[in-house]
Amino acid sequence: MRRGSLIQLTALGLIAAAIGTAVALLIPWLPTAAGKEAQRIDFVYWFATVIAIAVFSVVAAVLAFEIWKFRAPPDDDSDGPPIHGHTTLEIVWTAIPAVLVTAISIVSAVVLAQNGHAGSNPLVVKVKAQQFAWNFTYPNGRSYGFLTLPVNRHVKLEITAVDVIHSFWVPELSQKQDAVPGHPTSIIVTPIKTGTFPVICTELCGLGHSLMRSHVEILSQADYAAWVKRGGQSSSPGLAAFQQFGCGGCHTFKPAGATGTVGPDLDKLKAEATRANRGSLTSFIHESIVEPQAYLEPGYPDAMPHTFGSQISPAQISQLVQYLAQGAQ
Ligand code: CUA
Repeated sequence: MRRGSLIQLTALGLIAAAIGTAVALLIPWLPTAAGKEAQRIDFVYWFATVIAIAVFSVVAAVLAFEIWKFRAPPDDDSDGPPIHGHTTLEIVWTAIPAVLVTAISIVSAVVLAQNGHAGSNPLVVKVKAQQFAWNFTYPNGRSYGFLTLPVNRHVKLEITAVDVIHSFWVPELSQKQDAVPGHPTSIIVTPIKTGTFPVICTELCGLGHSLMRSHVEILSQADYAAWVKRGGQSSSPGLAAFQQFGCGGCHTFKPAGATGTVGPDLDKLKAEATRANRGSLTSFIHESIVEPQAYLEPGYPDAMPHTFGSQISPAQISQLVQYLAQGAQ
């Protein structure tokens, strides 16, 4: 090979590498890592990306060089020269990918093993998924519709599902795990950044799937201890029940800042109660929670779980009914 060609090839390779690197670095592909596991997973992404850019550069350079130098004139219909393989080349282009793929799998295996490590004293939170809400239960037995975690402590999330398969995911914590009915699963997360991040269901689970969201608030250790001490509640019991049972996943309700559209708009509860004509406003709301199939608002399917009557304690149901009746217009 001539020296000039080699320089041209290298130049093309550097251009391809520069384009690949710019695409990788200038676009923020990954969310900010808010957990140790997320940092490790990001490392695997970058490890594989660097290898991919190197391979892309070599292939793109050779391809561009050949199109440039060996383009056949429009009137040339002859065959190319016969070539009978090249053993050294074939060994090289088999060995290099084998080494690279093996390196990626070793790095991935190490990260997987580290990310499964709960340490000696993890905070255990039970995560329950159901159409279309998340519920988080703490060691003291209290449960909430949103997750609150301290920084710098291993957290073991024990995940179950009530009805169909869901999947727990916080992009900033990276770890993702299916919630499977009858088959408990778990993941470890170790927050390292305070802040509020979304909890997203990533398994198509029914009408309200896209709205099956909650949030995780990551607090400093002192703030977390204070949160646990005051029982975690910072809102009215009615609002707490509304959040705990994920009503906002499907319903719009201004007082709770909820914007779901799968089920009827709860801001219009009064008008609907009049139209339904099934007793007083509070008894209509009560019936709609414990026996939602008894009256369906026209235009809405029978999508609300029929299980809230047995899941929510009578005290909480009446708090919820009062809360909704007061906020309804
Ligand atoms: Cu639950 Cu999608």
